[in-house]
Amino acid sequence: MFHGTSQSRSIHWSYPEMLAKTVADLPDHRIAGSRILVRVDFNVPLDSDRKITDDIRIVRALPTLSYLLERGGRLVVTSHLGRPKGVDPVFSLRPVAEHLDSLLDFPVLFCPELIGPEAQKAVDALQGGELLLLENTRFHKGEKKNDPELSKALADLCDLFVNDAFGTAHRAHASTVGAAQVLRERGREAVGGFLMEKELRYLGMALEDPDRPFVAVLGGAKISGKIEVIQTLLPKVDRLIIGGAMANTFFEALGLETGNSLVEEERVEVARGTLEEAGEKLLLPVDCVVAPEISADAQIREVERALVEPGEMIGDIGSGSRALFADALSGAGTVVWNGPMGVFEMAPFAGGTLALAEAVAAVSDQGGTTVVGGGDSASAAEKAGVADRLSHVSTGGGASLEFLSGAVLPGVAALDKKEGSPS
Ligand code: 3PG
Repeated sequence: MFHGTSQSRSIHWSYPEMLAKTVADLPDHRIAGSRILVRVDFNVPLDSDRKITDDIRIVRALPTLSYLLERGGRLVVTSHLGRPKGVDPVFSLRPVAEHLDSLLDFPVLFCPELIGPEAQKAVDALQGGELLLLENTRFHKGEKKNDPELSKALADLCDLFVNDAFGTAHRAHASTVGAAQVLRERGREAVGGFLMEKELRYLGMALEDPDRPFVAVLGGAKISGKIEVIQTLLPKVDRLIIGGAMANTFFEALGLETGNSLVEEERVEVARGTLEEAGEKLLLPVDCVVAPEISADAQIREVERALVEPGEMIGDIGSGSRALFADALSGAGTVVWNGPMGVFEMAPFAGGTLALAEAVAAVSDQGGTTVVGGGDSASAAEKAGVADRLSHVSTGGGASLEFLSGAVLPGVAALDKKEGSPS
């Protein structure tokens, strides 16, 4: 079963952006024969031979694409890839089109333009049940500026708009927001896809109506990008676990020696305030894996957090912390995890993140709901071999963090609302 709207929990959202209409709200006759602009997030990693090294974002868009193609939609698909400065063949979506063709049972065509006569010709020739992937939206300067001319040119290509690009929903760009607005002004529909709906449902459930106990786990390098997330989550969670290099800034706030570890000095005060506010809700690592330097062949030792020596660097949480965190997670009703516990890409510092991934997956095994933010934590879940046991692995890195910080995602706010929802 591709789309899961019928299995959705009944949740009373207070976030209006969660009440966007979806493709399931479009009558079939509206889809058949229509030119449908579908914004996806095909911003996937490529190696030096331009081979896709992780296609999860493409795979997760397939339900929406198949649903529309099965109903005879003429799909005009857009995405960005990377952060090109103007037109750059290295960032062409052509390899993505080839890969998509191997995954879909429908014809996939590629147009090396985004707008203009060639794109128009390709769209005009498109038949029901065919998909046309247009070239990288970021080859146009107007994309990131949400330029009205580019928005209009995109809207001119189609009859209605579908946004399935949760990973880019925090960007107010021409292809995510501008085109949707132009179409709505013309009285056309702008709705979310199934992936968008699923992402909002799981992340929204955590913010709005979590099964308890609700435990959030935050990690990764920096506290700075996560302060708003901490502030939003703290009143809602029963437990907040903080690991990874961001814990170092809290150690500093506790007056502990952190050696040469990454510490955000300008955030130490914020960390101190969070410690006071959170009280016993907040769990920090009690021990660490340290080394003279962070490298793949580093000589490591495990120490209590109070015994880090000058000159050492903290690269992971220790075994006492792994057990402590697993215990805090055990029996949780809802878990949200964003950010690794250490430098898990390097074997000497991978143990803490892999242990945490296993502890989160065990919550799923016991019937809890587990939601993992995209980016590094998603790769860590893959590396630990637990991704299939989790309730939901988000395709959004920045987008899931913004959402968890309580921000309204512009790409979602630009869509049609369900009947009776707050405007
Ligand atoms: C992502 O990978 O987080 C999204 O595709 C957004 O990409 P961006 O950070 O380059 O806007």
